[in-house]
Amino acid sequence: MNATIGTGGARPLSEHGARLAKAAALAVADAPSRDHARDLERANADLRQFAYVASHDLQEPLRMIVSYLDMVKRRLGDRSDPEIDEFLDYAVDGARRMRALIRGLADYTRIDARQRAFGPVSMDDLLDGVLRDLALKMEDCGAHVLVRDQLPTVRGDPVLLAQVFHNLLVNAMKYRHPDRAPEIRLTARRSGADWLFSVADNGLGIPADALDRVFLLFQRLNSAKGTEGSGIGLALVRKIVEEHGGRVWAASVPDIGSTFHVALPASESPDSEAD
Ligand SMILES: Nc1ncnc2c1ncn2[C@@H]1O[C@H](COP(=O)(O)OP(=O)(O)OP(=O)(O)O)[C@@H](O)[C@H]1O
Ligand SMILES: [Mg+2]
Repeated sequence: MNATIGTGGARPLSEHGARLAKAAALAVADAPSRDHARDLERANADLRQFAYVASHDLQEPLRMIVSYLDMVKRRLGDRSDPEIDEFLDYAVDGARRMRALIRGLADYTRIDARQRAFGPVSMDDLLDGVLRDLALKMEDCGAHVLVRDQLPTVRGDPVLLAQVFHNLLVNAMKYRHPDRAPEIRLTARRSGADWLFSVADNGLGIPADALDRVFLLFQRLNSAKGTEGSGIGLALVRKIVEEHGGRVWAASVPDIGSTFHVALPASESPDSEAD
C-alpha cells in the first residue's frame, strides 16, 4: 500500500510522524525567535497532512479486515456455532464503526486541503439545496422545517456553508424526542456586525455541562446511544464557521429542545452584503 494522495507532496505516514515530532520538538525547544512562528506553522501543516494521509491509509487495511472476516464466516458455514457467529459480527461491527470514524476524519482534514472558494452566497438558495437533499430523511421522521425569515446573502464558501446547515438539521432530526415529530425553526437576524442564524429544535436537548463539549471531535453524549454517528459533525461545523470569521454556540433546555446559533460576519451595511 502506498500513501500517495492528491494534495501534492504527500509522503508516507511514518515520514510524516518523524517530521511532525521533529517540528514539534523544535517549536518547544526554541527560545522565542522570528523562526518560532515559522516552525510552529510547519508543525501545524505537518499535523494536518499527517491526519489527512492517516485517514486515507487506514481505509485499506480496514477493508481487508472486513473482507477476510466475511470469508472466515463463509468458510465456517455449518461448522460455525452461534457464539463464533456473534464474535465475528462484533468484529465486523467494530470495523464498520472505525470506517465511519476514519471517513469523518477525512472530511474534517479535507476542509484544510480544499481550495477556498469565497464569494457572495445566497443563504436562501443554499438552504433550498440543503432541504432538497434532506427531503427523504425529513419525510422518514415526519420533520417540519420552518424558515421564518428572508435569509440574507453572506460571504463564504457555499459548499462548506451547506455542510454547516446540513449537519445542524441532521442532528435536529437524529436527536429528536421519542414523543414528538421534529419541529425545526430556522431564523436569521442582524446582530451588530453579524448575521445571526439560529436552528432551534424540539428534541432531546443537551445538558448544560455538555453544551461546549459537543463541538469537540469524537464527543457523543449518552443520549446519542442507539444512533449512528462519529461525533465529528459539530467539530466540522465549528471549524467551518471559524474559518468564515464567525462563531457557533448552543443553548438548550433538556427534554424541551436545543438551539444552535451561527454568527457570520455581515458586509458593512445590511444592503450591501452581496458585495
Ligand atoms: N440537536 C441536538 N439535540 C441533542 N443533542 C445533540 C444535538 N446535536 C448534537 N447533539 C449531541 O452532540 C453530539 C455531537 O454531535 P455531532 O454532530 O458532532 O456528532 P454525531 O451526530 O454524534 O455524529 P456525526 O455528526 O459525526 O455523524 C451528538 O452525539 C449528540 O449527543
Ligand atoms: Mg451529527
